[in-house]
Amino acid sequence: MNILITNIGQLITPHGRAPAGGKQMNDLTIYEGVELLTNGERITEIAARIDRAGVDRTIDARGGVVLPGLVDPHTHAVFADTREEEFLARLQGNPYDGGGILASARAVATTSEEDLVEGALPYLQRMLACGTTTVEIKSGYGLSLENEIKLLVAIRQLKKMMPMRVVPTFLGAHAFPKEIGRDDYISSIITEMIPTVRRRRLAQFCDVFCDRGFYTRAETRTILRAARGAGLRLKLHADELADVGGAELAAELEATSADHLLKVSEKGIKRLKEAGVIPVLLPGTAFNLTSNYAPARRMIELGLPVALASDFNPGTCPIYSMWIVIGLAVIKMGLSVEEAITAATLNAACALELSEEIGSLEKGKAADLILLDLESYRQIPYFFGHNPVRMVIQGGKVVYESA
Ligand code: NIG
Ligand code: FE
Repeated sequence: MNILITNIGQLITPHGRAPAGGKQMNDLTIYEGVELLTNGERITEIAARIDRAGVDRTIDARGGVVLPGLVDPHTHAVFADTREEEFLARLQGNPYDGGGILASARAVATTSEEDLVEGALPYLQRMLACGTTTVEIKSGYGLSLENEIKLLVAIRQLKKMMPMRVVPTFLGAHAFPKEIGRDDYISSIITEMIPTVRRRRLAQFCDVFCDRGFYTRAETRTILRAARGAGLRLKLHADELADVGGAELAAELEATSADHLLKVSEKGIKRLKEAGVIPVLLPGTAFNLTSNYAPARRMIELGLPVALASDFNPGTCPIYSMWIVIGLAVIKMGLSVEEAITAATLNAACALELSEEIGSLEKGKAADLILLDLESYRQIPYFFGHNPVRMVIQGGKVVYESA
């Protein structure tokens, strides 16, 4: 089905396949008064006036804004419990120590795969309604072979059910279960879980929570090397609670991304730049933890291609809307609107190694795009908390329309 979108007030997009670093993050192409044609899968033309021949459906953008579908490259969207009591206790002064991960793992252990899928679906539907067309989802609340695989199978099921691109990540190394010794658990990750993930093709990435009180650098290195040997690409939860040199390790391992980075050092930032690792920043988590924000401006000054993600999870970030994430990035981390858009589209696609396909609106890329009821893209952070999405098109098909 060839869809033509007419009467676009502003079509805003970064360009290319490579991550946009430093000053390039501001380089958006802004087309005014254009039309966009898709062939049921890809973008075939963007021009002032497109020939109507062969068009099956015309959509009037009513002078609104068109952006690439948003890419959320870091979530823990499949879980069995919410943790509002822990959240409220934290606001009363109970510090976050990650202990809630074990509570979430207990809940997952007694929940069936079908119930995990059913529980996650409404969250993914809300994400889609907020314009997220690609989402990464991590396991990590299983903490045993059986339950980590159960989560990854649930993620695979969701991928079939939802009209979104879903990228699965294995995060068995999220915490240490109480039932088994530390070294035994790491050995189970390496000798049982990673080989099973590989054999059943259950994940594209492997991630480790490398932080104070969690996996040491040495443990993280051992696990991620094994993962790389099994053909998985690498990510790290790095330097969220303390600067443990997680960024430096991500650089050493040439990971695709290093995520969180609230406490990263200047040296860590420079190593990320040298190694071409993408910093994925999660301002929703800093907001919910009432913590400091990652040093995004410094990263951009040093030329890094900052990406944004929600980190949607039951413990530290119940925010699933990338609009709130973008708003926080602008209001709290000092990104320009243009930088934040690049960070939530092209650079986020690069953090999932999908920028050949998605992340910008140009001829040949997949037709993943969103129509917004806004007069100008500059209104995005101004209407903080508002979801401006009128329509979502994924792979050239209309997959969501607001009421
Ligand atoms: O990304 N930092 C580690 N993991 C999650 C939180 C996990 C939890 O508390 O459930 C995060 O913030
Ligand atoms: Fe996370």
